Amino acid sequence: MTHGKKSSIFDTQTVVIITLAIVAVALYNYVKNLSEFTASLHGRNVEFHASVEERIRPFGRVKLPGEELAPGELQVDEMPQAKPVATLLTGPQVFNEACIACHGTGIGGAPTLEDSATWEARIAQGRDTLYLHALEGYTGSAGYMPPKGARLDLSDREISDAVDYMLSQVTN
Ligand code: HEC
Repeated sequence: MTHGKKSSIFDTQTVVIITLAIVAVALYNYVKNLSEFTASLHGRNVEFHASVEERIRPFGRVKLPGEELAPGELQVDEMPQAKPVATLLTGPQVFNEACIACHGTGIGGAPTLEDSATWEARIAQGRDTLYLHALEGYTGSAGYMPPKGARLDLSDREISDAVDYMLSQVTN
């Protein structure tokens, strides 16, 4: 049983060539699939980044003169300002926080609220003078009244409200 060297398609050389061809095609497909896969991963990345960009997009942005509005983009000329959260202290609150230390007990010559006799002459100066003395400080014959009762963080309005409160308590 002798075969000629090239008489059968199953001879070694043919088998080797076919096998190599199959391996080559398989490798080609493998690499092709792999690169498609990584490309799709990259595509998903692009989508992901785009969605993140969308979510962290600034609420608005300043347009320079000559810049067009994008379709659907609203133009706002002035941003609405939030109302300040902090509220003023009332006259009694300010008095109890900042004035009572001296005016409650009469420390350093401070007129107390019960001492209506001393208040008469003070009130006679007029309310504006009392506001001014409370705001800017005042040294009279009784002693030293520090500016704003040494609470410079308080607003002028809070101090004048406290003066109003003191006067309402004195005259009552
Ligand atoms: C460190 C003590 C002290 C504190 C705190 C203080 N005062 Fe006085 N205040 C005085 C003294 C002392 C006088 C009297 C000064 C004088 O007539 O010689 C005075 C006087 C006044 C007068 C009368 C001024 C005048 O022209 O007769 C007013 C009004 C007044 N204080 C308001 C306030 C208010 C409002 C506060 C709190 C925000 C305050 N004071 C906190 C010591 C104080």
